Amino acid sequence: MSGRKQRLELTWIGKDERPRLEPRILLEDEEKSYHAKARVTDRDIFDNILIQGDNLLALKALEQGYAGKVKCVFIDPPYNTGSAFEHYDDGIEHSLWLSLMRDRLELLRRLLSDDGSLWITIDDNEAHYLKVLCDEVFGRKNFIANVVWEKSDSPKMDSQFFSSRHDHLLVIAKNIEVVQLSRLAVETQGHYNKIASDGRRYYTKPLRAMGSGEDTREARPSMYFPLTAPDGSEVFPKKPDGTDGRWRWGPKKYASDISRIEWVKGKGGWAPYFRIYEETGTGRPPETIWSHSEVGSNRTSKAEIKALVGENDLFTTPKPEALIFRVLQIATKSGDLVLDSFAGSGTTGAVAHKMGRRWIMVELGAHCETHIVPRLRKVIDGEDKGGITEAADWKGGGGFRYFRLAPSLLEKDAWDNWVISKEYDATKVAQAVCKLMGFVYQPDETHYWMQGRSSESDFIYVTTQSLTHEQLVAISEEVGDERTLLVCCKAFRAEPDAFPNLTIRKIPQTVLRKCEWGRDDYSLNVANLPEARRGAGEPDSPGAANKAGQKKGGKSAPQDDLFGGEGGK
Ligand SMILES: C[S@@+](CC[C@H](N)C(=O)[O-])C[C@H]1O[C@@H](n2cnc3c(N)ncnc32)[C@H](O)[C@@H]1O
Repeated sequence: MSGRKQRLELTWIGKDERPRLEPRILLEDEEKSYHAKARVTDRDIFDNILIQGDNLLALKALEQGYAGKVKCVFIDPPYNTGSAFEHYDDGIEHSLWLSLMRDRLELLRRLLSDDGSLWITIDDNEAHYLKVLCDEVFGRKNFIANVVWEKSDSPKMDSQFFSSRHDHLLVIAKNIEVVQLSRLAVETQGHYNKIASDGRRYYTKPLRAMGSGEDTREARPSMYFPLTAPDGSEVFPKKPDGTDGRWRWGPKKYASDISRIEWVKGKGGWAPYFRIYEETGTGRPPETIWSHSEVGSNRTSKAEIKALVGENDLFTTPKPEALIFRVLQIATKSGDLVLDSFAGSGTTGAVAHKMGRRWIMVELGAHCETHIVPRLRKVIDGEDKGGITEAADWKGGGGFRYFRLAPSLLEKDAWDNWVISKEYDATKVAQAVCKLMGFVYQPDETHYWMQGRSSESDFIYVTTQSLTHEQLVAISEEVGDERTLLVCCKAFRAEPDAFPNLTIRKIPQTVLRKCEWGRDDYSLNVANLPEARRGAGEPDSPGAANKAGQKKGGKSAPQDDLFGGEGGK
């Protein structure tokens, strides 16, 4: 033991194995992308992103463009409660789940902004392991809270011991020193239900004082004065019984805060209201128990999804919109970017959209197309009247783009050599190689060799052609002394270091070792696991050391049970 650095950690089967992910490019399916026909407000957001595919590859694909840009990650991963692994040792099931989550959490952390936060719903099966895993990935000091969400409104009478009525909602900061979380409005949730033209949320109160013995003209004579309504008529603060009341503000305050006044014409004529903006409200800190009456339950979310997609096509595990509304009220402001990489029926995107947040969602299942797309189209068309539509005062607008992950850049040919996939045309090859080599794809209209850049003066040129010595001389002269260029081509006739401003590499050779090629499925897919030996307590069964998605034949290393034996060594 002496000399070995010890630390407190969770161990599990296969913990040391890490995928070497290919940073794929994303391909838009324009037929599934959707935009409102016209602008509804000048704050409409069109660049939201929906990706169909495995979220590990998708998060890797997003890394280059979005690292440090996401304000809030909300995820509702599979709780690992099903019988998918019934023929496997229990330790393998939990280990696989932890590996899957760890790999995704690491990427999610990179995508979060410094002041951002991660929110994860989970039940008792994995909650406590997940907390420890998050401590490992994010640092224990960045744990903020474990919120108890009352997911059900009545007991399950057939429960063996306890009827579980709650899920956990783990809240974790990327950096607790600078994380930005808002307080909740003192009054009821959803109180700031209007949005001003500058994007600020507010609610209104009548300007006439009401409800205390001090609301009469007699009590404050200087606050009884006429105001001019939009039609030019004079309005006095009259109580419903016709007697003289008073305004809440005196004439001076009225003149200085007139931009906060909204006039409403009711049965009794014009009445002034004043705006109270969210950021000026005192607010209360969010609490760690969220009741179903405030944020909905599983019953609420099932009713919401039924209203959207009908009885026959139900998605079984949606979250209520009010729950996500509360999360985004605390974790984000207008225009912030929200990410959900286990999108399900698309609740997070629907709520973010209605709240004027930008969003990215990833979903592996076919319901990406069958549920999320129609749901978001209804939101955009202003046809979804349910969920938080009224609380957010949502009228429709904006849009999203639908993407798929590109296939792997390389495939094996008939002789078992890695070659560029036939599905890639020249543009896609350039995009993919740029990404692999850490360049941003940005083709220049005048210089054909400027296809991407890593800085103001460092560029990349990707071609599937072979380059002659003369061609390289010409390129080198154009690049000049002030710039550098990485040339990735099929073959070339020159000494690789013949040109001081060019670095010349062959593709695919130069990218071969960068990552794992040709692997599309990193999800928890039982079909990909090696055959299991029946019976419990076989930590060295054939699947033990293999992560989901690995092919047969991997060797298993003997491991201790979670926290058993020499756990944490
Ligand atoms: C519990 S559901 C999320 C429900 C969602 N919060 C809602 O309100 O509809 C989990 C989702 O994660 C998806 N999922 C599981 N593994 C995934 C993976 N590797 N990549 C992308 N999505 C995945 C499942 O298909 C499922 O739709």
